[in-house]
Amino acid sequence: MPSRDGPAVVEVDDLVKRYPRADTNAVDGLSFTVAPGEIFGLFGPNGAGKSTTVGILTTRLRATGGRVVVGGVDVGRDPAAARAQLAVVPQHNNLDRALTPRQNLVYHATYHGVRRREAQARAAELLERFGLTERADRRIEAYSGGMAQRLMIARALTHEPTVLFLDEPTNALDPQTRLLIWGQLRELRARGVAIVLTTHAMNEAARVVDRVGIVDHGRLLTLDTPTNLVRGLAGDALLDLTVTPAGGDDPDALCAALGELTGVRKAERLATPTGPPGGRPGGLAGVGAGGAAMLAALAAGGGRPGGGRLAALAGAGLLGRGGGAAGNGGRGRLRIRLHLAGDAATLLGPAVAALAARSAAVNAVDISEPSLEDVFIELTGRQPR
Ligand SMILES: Nc1ncnc2c1ncn2[C@@H]1O[C@H](COP(=O)(O)OP(=O)(O)O)[C@@H](O)[C@H]1O
Ligand SMILES: [Mg+2]
Repeated sequence: MPSRDGPAVVEVDDLVKRYPRADTNAVDGLSFTVAPGEIFGLFGPNGAGKSTTVGILTTRLRATGGRVVVGGVDVGRDPAAARAQLAVVPQHNNLDRALTPRQNLVYHATYHGVRRREAQARAAELLERFGLTERADRRIEAYSGGMAQRLMIARALTHEPTVLFLDEPTNALDPQTRLLIWGQLRELRARGVAIVLTTHAMNEAARVVDRVGIVDHGRLLTLDTPTNLVRGLAGDALLDLTVTPAGGDDPDALCAALGELTGVRKAERLATPTGPPGGRPGGLAGVGAGGAAMLAALAAGGGRPGGGRLAALAGAGLLGRGGGAAGNGGRGRLRIRLHLAGDAATLLGPAVAALAARSAAVNAVDISEPSLEDVFIELTGRQPR
């Protein structure tokens, strides 16, 4: 739906890239479009093909197949004209160390045909916007990673591109720099500049992108707004339960029983935590049936978690301790994740009651909102690769 403000400014159609001597495609049939004034995220793990895609879209690499149009220009046919439309902030620092920061900007602008006087005015304005004026004429070696990143973005903007590409823009930056960069990107979007950014830190960037394509092995797994992706794939909320089943109870059957509860879209077993004997300091040794009933009553009473996480319901006083297998330092414990449709607080009571009915002890409860990383795990599984 690239209709934010007219036709797409980036069109990628069945893009393929195979590096020489590689036996698989680094980019394997990617298609998407980006609208003017849209922030589009290309998210995926390391090696997914993000930088390769950006490399082709910005004319640094040639595609093996498919078609890319940026700002109305076919990138493969007329790379020079495409370069006038776009700017790129690469994953690795490629500032010219022989020049001062200000000279880097002026040089870049004049290279792109901006007249010298205008280039100097733009450089001054951008240095100011990115908080770099004070150090504009010092040696670039003294720049921190964050300053270098700001300078690379400022440099990219000196020729007023239609589309700005950023490859892992906030990788390893301090929080202040990240905030400044996200703020500047939003401002560019408001001016109608389209932004394509890649990252493997999906959750952080999810807050700034309008739409996101999740890639893995050079293929697009899904493409939508972050909200739709999270709602559609991971559920409205996640309820993680650490429980100790009654002796002889089958963990899978217990998990399945939770999955049958109304409002639970899916129940899955997570890897069991390997903590020090006795569990986390301040954690629970076990929640007996009485404690479970109390939890259920609390939940039924409408105790809503205030936003973030409701971690480890450690109401020590009300909870039976050391019951059966729970006293063995975590052995026999299960972690079960419930993907919920609707509010987690509403499900807490029934879930705890269902566990109590099987004489399972509840060790910890955690409510969270699903994130894009959860979506990614949903799509690709939990196995490390
Ligand atoms: N210059 C290159 N030559 C050969 N293979 C490459 C080259 N650059 C990247 N690759 C491979 O292509 C795949 C995608 O890499 P890349 O686009 O850098 O992924 P990402 O940016 O998502 O981490 C990886 O398997 C990587 O090893
Ligand atoms: Mg990369």
